Amino acid sequence: MTDVATDRINLSAPWIDERDEELVLEVLRSGWLSLGPTGPRFEALLADAVGAPYAAAVSSGTAGLHLCMRLANVGPGDEVITSPYSFVASANCAIYEGATPVFADIDPRTFNLDLAAVEAAITPRTKALVTVDIFGYPAEYDELSALCDRHGIALVEDSCEALGAEYKGRRLGAHGHPAVWAFYPNKQMTTGEGGAVTVHDEEAHALLVSLRNQGRLETSSWLQHGRLGFNYRLDDISAALGIGQLERLERILEARREVAARYAELLAGVDVEPPLPDDEDHVRSWFVYVVKLPSGVDRDAVMARMSERGIATAPYVPSIHLQSYMRERYGFSEGMFPVSEDCSARTMALPFHARLERGDQERVVDTLRSVLQSF
Ligand SMILES: Cc1ncc(COP(=O)(O)O)c(C=O)c1O
Repeated sequence: MTDVATDRINLSAPWIDERDEELVLEVLRSGWLSLGPTGPRFEALLADAVGAPYAAAVSSGTAGLHLCMRLANVGPGDEVITSPYSFVASANCAIYEGATPVFADIDPRTFNLDLAAVEAAITPRTKALVTVDIFGYPAEYDELSALCDRHGIALVEDSCEALGAEYKGRRLGAHGHPAVWAFYPNKQMTTGEGGAVTVHDEEAHALLVSLRNQGRLETSSWLQHGRLGFNYRLDDISAALGIGQLERLERILEARREVAARYAELLAGVDVEPPLPDDEDHVRSWFVYVVKLPSGVDRDAVMARMSERGIATAPYVPSIHLQSYMRERYGFSEGMFPVSEDCSARTMALPFHARLERGDQERVVDTLRSVLQSF
C-alpha cells in the first residue's frame, strides 16, 4: 500500500475487512476474551484449511515450534537439525529445551534444506529435524521424511511462511508431521500475534493443549497443574480475527498469487533472479517476494537507494549461524554454510501483500531497474 503522507511503498500490509471487525467486536461484546468458544472454531477452520485432523492455536509461531520440541522429547544433549537460511525461531526452539542446533546447508535452487547436507549432519544425538518452507516454497518432504524414518528422527515442519502451499498435490500440514503456522501481520493471514500447530494424532493434540495452558490437564481445575507448561494460549479476540481471515483464505492466497505473477511479468529483463516458479510437486504460497541480485552487486547499497526513493525492502533472510549470539555461543563463522551465506548476502524482499496495486509494483520495478543500472 502506498503511504499517502510520504508516498512510501511499504514492505507488507495486513488485509482487514468489515467481517474481521464484526467478528472481533462480537467477542469483545461477549465478554469471553480467552478460553471461550471462539478458539476452537478458529482451530477447526485452520485444521480444515491445511488438511490435518487437529489444530492447537498458540500465541506465536515461535511458541508452536517450542511446543513441537516437547512433542519430540527434545532435551539437553540432543541435537536438532535445521536450515541456517530461516528466521531464528527455527533454531531457537531447540535451544529453549537445552538441545544444540545443528545446521545443514540449503539447495541454491529452492533455498530449502539440501537432502545430502541433512544426511551428513545426522549423528547419534540427532533427535529432530525442523524443515523450513522458506518464503512459502515447500521442502522435499518425501525424501526428508524417509530419511528421518530411517534414522528414528522426529520431523517438525516449520511452515510458518507457507500456509496454503502444496507438496505433491496436498497442502502442507496434510503430510502427517506436526506443522507450525504463524500469523504475525506480515503473513498470508494474521491474528495480530499468533500461531498454531497442526497434528495428526489425538494424543499429541492433547499434550499441546495442556502445554500451552500452563500444564493443566483436561480434568484439572484452574489451579491444578499436571505438568510443567507455558502460557502460550491464543486469546479469543485474536482467534476471531483469524476466523475472518480463514473464511477468505483462498481469496487472499489468490490475490497474493496475482501480485506475484505481476512482479514476474514486470521483472522480465531486470538483472535479478526471480523466485523459483512452481512445478508439479511444489506449489508455493506467496509470503514474500524475494529476488536474488547478481553476485558482486552491493545488496545493502541497493536497499539504501531504494529506501531513498520511497521503497521499503528487507534483507530476507540473514543466515542464523552468523547472528552474533549464535557465533558467541557455538563458534559458528563465515564459510560454514556457503550456499546459505551467499543467498543471505544477495537476496532482497520487495514490497508485497495481497492488495499491492499494479502502479505501485511498476514503481518498485522501475526504481529497482534504475538503481541496478547506477552500479
Ligand atoms: C520460518 C519462520 N519460523 C518461525 C517464525 C516465528 O513466528 P512468530 O513470529 O509468530 O513467532 C517465523 C515468523 O516470521 C518464520 O518466518
